[in-house]
Order: sequence, then structure tokens, then C-alpha cells
Amino acid sequence: MRISVIGSGYVGLVTGICFAELGHDVLLFDNDPAKQRALQQGVSPIHEKYVPELLARHRGARLTFSSSLAESVDKSDAIFIAVGTPPTVNGEADLSYVESVARELAASIKDYKIVVGKSTVPVYTSEWVRRIMQLNGAPAGLFDVASNPEFLREGTAVTDFLYPDRIVIGTDTPACEERLRRIYQPLADGTYYERGDAVPPPKAISGPPPLISTTAKSAELIKYASNAFLAMKISFINAVATLCESVGADVEQVREGIGSDSRIGRQFLNPGLGYGGSCFPKDLSAYRAVARECGYDFRLLEEVMRINNEQRERFLRKVRHALWTLKGKRLGVLGLAFKGGTDDVRESPAIAVIRSLIDEGCRIQAYDPAATANAREILGDASIQYMNSALEAATGADALLVLTDWDEFRSIDLGRLHDVLHYPIVIDGRNLYDPTTMADWGFSYTSVGRADVSRGVGVQKSSVSTPGPAQRNSDADVVKVP
Ligand code: UGA
Repeated sequence: MRISVIGSGYVGLVTGICFAELGHDVLLFDNDPAKQRALQQGVSPIHEKYVPELLARHRGARLTFSSSLAESVDKSDAIFIAVGTPPTVNGEADLSYVESVARELAASIKDYKIVVGKSTVPVYTSEWVRRIMQLNGAPAGLFDVASNPEFLREGTAVTDFLYPDRIVIGTDTPACEERLRRIYQPLADGTYYERGDAVPPPKAISGPPPLISTTAKSAELIKYASNAFLAMKISFINAVATLCESVGADVEQVREGIGSDSRIGRQFLNPGLGYGGSCFPKDLSAYRAVARECGYDFRLLEEVMRINNEQRERFLRKVRHALWTLKGKRLGVLGLAFKGGTDDVRESPAIAVIRSLIDEGCRIQAYDPAATANAREILGDASIQYMNSALEAATGADALLVLTDWDEFRSIDLGRLHDVLHYPIVIDGRNLYDPTTMADWGFSYTSVGRADVSRGVGVQKSSVSTPGPAQRNSDADVVKVP
């Protein structure tokens, strides 16, 4: 099948190279000449596992690039729209890029095409695209509009595409459905998984993914509802974590206890600093706005967002609690990206926390395995130093803050970490370490939804006794000086 993908951001690029990997001829369109040039030279503009390898495998053969929309339409049977849908000031999704692509596509359609929405869009978008294309001269019988939402996570986007839990195709005509089924056939019939050169599966797979065929409107709702549900799971466990802190329970034990129920499941129940990234925060606001417009006040989503914002505030309170005053303190920071495995800092909880700490007079020395350049563009260089390793970030610091769940941080040498910190205080917003191990190593360790521990003392209930600075116990209003 000949496929064009309009937009080569995270979603468009991964979609394009994965379609090429499935054996299709793909034309990737982008109107940013610098991005086009980089891709043509085989340079991936994003930090994403397997993208460089698949780019090298297919570039110039099954994967070509174009900056002409007319050519993209002409040379394809299916056109996937994967342009950005950033939030407006009201929290709605800004669909102006989608609209302008639809307008331009209309002029070039000469034989039957399917136009498929990949961008995350509100319900009714397919209908609008159809209407805009007709208004701009595309003959009604020569095209169909479909919705084919993506469920790709940054960091694992390629394997999420090739080994999905399900494929959702939302179409309103049999011809369109048939074309989309053919595009996904190598995944749906499992032939891709038999190939010797297939990208390795992330985990053992039990069989090919189900292909769920729905109407376009249902598919659009599936996308928003999936993201909202996952965000709700995260806020739920964060609320449970807060309760655990109040009563002295351990959220990791509670998570195990509830996550083992197959109706609930373990995934997306990791407590921490709350969700960030370019999807959940934007999609929850947009979903709520869409619901309101359709006459439903989806107040549950408001609460999910409130709990999420509160997580960062709670973390900042923990930092103040552990260090008493913040002005002039030197803090080591592990992680700038919104989660491990990506260089993306959009809506990163780490960036929000660092900003607040800088505002309160802290000096930051931060390390991230991939996101430093992107973070520097936002945070600049005043009050923050970008380091080359986790241990370098910790060296001489009054405390170490863990803000992103990179695997590299899990395996840090705790003995050396203890040696290089000025005070052995670790405040972990991602629960990367075992509290007992941290106490054994001599750290004062604060995490999320688990009791604080300090050196040689094992588990304490709700305060941290530090080997360094004087510390204020906010509950009892007592100042402890170790
Ligand atoms: C998310 C969805 O997981 C994808 O299915 C979806 O396709 C994508 O949005 C999108 O709409 O394009 P992504 O934003 O890349 O993917 O990252 P996630 O792995 O979902 O993580 C989102 C945020 O939630 C991160 O800040 C992460 O640290 C946080 N998170 C995740 C938790 O705090 N706890 C968890 O248990 C899981």
C-alpha cells in the first residue's frame, strides 16, 4: 500500500517508519525544511528507541520524504494526518493545523483516497475534515475520512506500534475499512511477528493484536477516554499514596495488593510527581472541554487534574521539610524529562519542581541522560548547572532530588552517592529505591506514599531526622537538630 504521513513529529515519524517496516511505501511530509533535511540524512530528531535503526533500514527505499502536500496526495492510497493539536488558552484542542491540511488535501484529490486522523482530536473532527474537504472542492465519492488513534508512549513508541494491545480503526464506509484492514494486516494476522528481522517484542506475546473496527466517532472517543482513564489511575494511586503517608501504610504494598486484581491491573499505578508530557495534561483539558460543549460536565476529570497538580506541591513541601530553609541550598537533581526513556520536557513535573526551587533561591545541579538540551532551552543557565552524570549532579549537594524515573538512576552506586553528597539526604519523587536499603546505607530518605527513613533508624513514621541541617517537624512543630 502507498501511504503518506502528514507531519513528522513523534507520532508521524514513528507511524511512518513503522508502516515502512510493515512493507508499505511511505512518503513522510513535513513543512519544516530543517527536520526534512535531518531525516533525509538519517538523523532522528527525537530520542526514541529503534527509530535510528528503522530510519537506516528504510530511508531512501520504502521511506521517502516530501515537502509537497500535492505530491503526498498524488503518490498515496491512504493519507494519515499526524500534525500537532496544541491546547488553546481555554484548554480546547487547537485544530487549525488539521483544518489547513484538510483544505490543502482537498485540492489535490483525483482518485479514491482515505484520509485518516492519527492526531489526538475531539469527537466530530472526522466529520469536520470531511466537510472542509468537500467545501474546498474534493468530490464526495473520491475520499473517506477515518480515525485511527495511536496509543504510543514516548520511549517505547516503536514497540507500542508494532506490538500493540489493540488496533482501533474508526471508519464509516466498507471501502475505507477494507483499506485500513489491509494496512494493518501484517500485525493483525501475525505475519510480521514471523519475520526474522522483526523488531524484538518488548515482552512475550500471546498472539496478534485484535483489530477493533468502530465508527469514526467512537474511535475518536476511544483515544481521549483511554488517556483520561490512564491519567485517572495515576491520580487515584497518588491520592492513595497521600493517605498511606497519613496513616503510615506503604503505597507499594497497597499497589501490589490492588494491582494483582486482574480487573484493576498493575500498570499505571506508580505513584510519584504526577503525570506530565505532551499528551495527558493537554488531552484531559481538551476532553473536559469537549464534554462540556456536548452538554456533559465531566467533573471527575477536574479532580484527576487537581490531584495531579497537588503532587508537585506535596513534593516541594517534602523538600522544605527535609531541608528547613531553601534559600542558598545546593540541590542535586536527577531527571529533567517528563518520564524516563525520552528527551521530551514538555509539561515535565521535573521542570515545574525545579522552577519553584529556583524561585525559592536554590542552586540546582541537574543531570538527565537525554533531556538536557531541551531543558536548557526552557530553564536557561542561571541558577542551574547541567552535569554529565548522576554522581556529578549529587557531588557537594545539600540533598538529592529524584524527579524522573530513568532506569540508569535505579542502579546508581549508593555507596558512592553517600560519599559525594554534602548531606546524605535523598528525596525521591519516583520511588526508585527501597527505603530499608537506603536507611542501611545511611541516607535520610523520603519518597512517595511510604514512611520516611533515616540512617540506621529504619522506618520512621512521618518525619525525617537528618544528619545535616536543622530540621523542622511540621506535624509537631518541633525543630530537631541532629
Ligand atoms: C501517553 C499514553 O500512555 C499513550 O497511550 C498515548 O498514545 C500517548 O500518551 C498520546 O496520547 O500520544 P506518554 O505521554 O508518552 O503516552 O507517556 P506515559 O508513559 O503514558 O506517561 C505519561 C505520564 O504519566 C508521565 O509523566 C509518567 O511519568 C506518568 N506516569 C505514568 C505515572 O506517574 N505513573 C504511572 O504509573 C505511569
